[in-house]
Amino acid sequence: MPSKLKVLVTGPITEEAAKKLSSFAETDFYRSENKLEGQELIQRLQGCDAVVCQLSGPITKNVIDNNPNLKLLANVAVGYDNIDVEEATKKEILVLNTPGVLDDATADIAFALLISTARRIVEADKFVRSGKWEGFRLDLMLGEDLAGKTVGIIGLGRIGQAFARRCLGFGMKVIYSQRNRADARIESDLKAIHVSLDELLSRSDFISIHCPLTKETTHLIDERALSLVKPTCILVNTSRGPVVDNNALIAALKNGKLYGAGLDVYEHEPDVPAELIAMDNVTLLPHIGSATEDTRKKMSELAVDGLISAFSGTQPSNVVNKTTWDAFCRRISSLTSTK
Ligand code: GLV
Repeated sequence: MPSKLKVLVTGPITEEAAKKLSSFAETDFYRSENKLEGQELIQRLQGCDAVVCQLSGPITKNVIDNNPNLKLLANVAVGYDNIDVEEATKKEILVLNTPGVLDDATADIAFALLISTARRIVEADKFVRSGKWEGFRLDLMLGEDLAGKTVGIIGLGRIGQAFARRCLGFGMKVIYSQRNRADARIESDLKAIHVSLDELLSRSDFISIHCPLTKETTHLIDERALSLVKPTCILVNTSRGPVVDNNALIAALKNGKLYGAGLDVYEHEPDVPAELIAMDNVTLLPHIGSATEDTRKKMSELAVDGLISAFSGTQPSNVVNKTTWDAFCRRISSLTSTK
């Protein structure tokens, strides 16, 4: 292992992963509940070769520019919109993420949001707790059926596919939109039909978003998009908040243009608009898509193992900017090896 490697860990990772990392490099664990960002992050990163980072602390151009020693960013998340990857690549910094280990956990949460909103679970739970329930009634808390409905999946990547499998199990039909059509085998396994975004918006009974946040997908679901959906539609978002225009969503819900929404992510986290909080037809979660013991353990391991593998000269599978590998190897060759 390179003897002088210094790594900052900006948030909690599992104890096992922390131990493994500490036996490989000199580590600095930031343990405060407050987010580590901006100037404080820049200062704490001084002299570090790598950072094991989380969604809450953006690795901006400014952070990168002010830490020229940085060689690797290991994001403990599959999405990496919190990192300026273009800038990192320019500066020959390797970026890692955690794909493949959180698909089922995230798809479970998306499905939970769908069924909770369709069947008014949170509202019904509050109703029982309030002591207002007076017994069985045929017209109490009527929701929407799932079976036989058409679900529109925006982004049929690994998480979108895991969500589609759950929908199939509940007797739903799957249509999807994304720039490039999925493999024929995936389409046939999921009985998924590729359609344009507009067709998906107008045909779907439920819509679930599973695309990454990019310049192209920012506010993909805006006022125009929401004007196309059925008034009985439920929108689920477990991807990234800014894919949906908050104001347009609130207006659509208020004006009855959308039946409900299930949200795990928000445009300006952790701020959740008061209008959404006041609505009973909206299920709100605090960005917990991948929050299971096993999944978070796997995410921590993948980030740390990837970092160790990269600094040991073997390209890990979870590199985001693969073209940077050779430059990264050149940069780390100057670190003394004690192997
Ligand atoms: C969580 O949101 C992730 O991208 O892993």
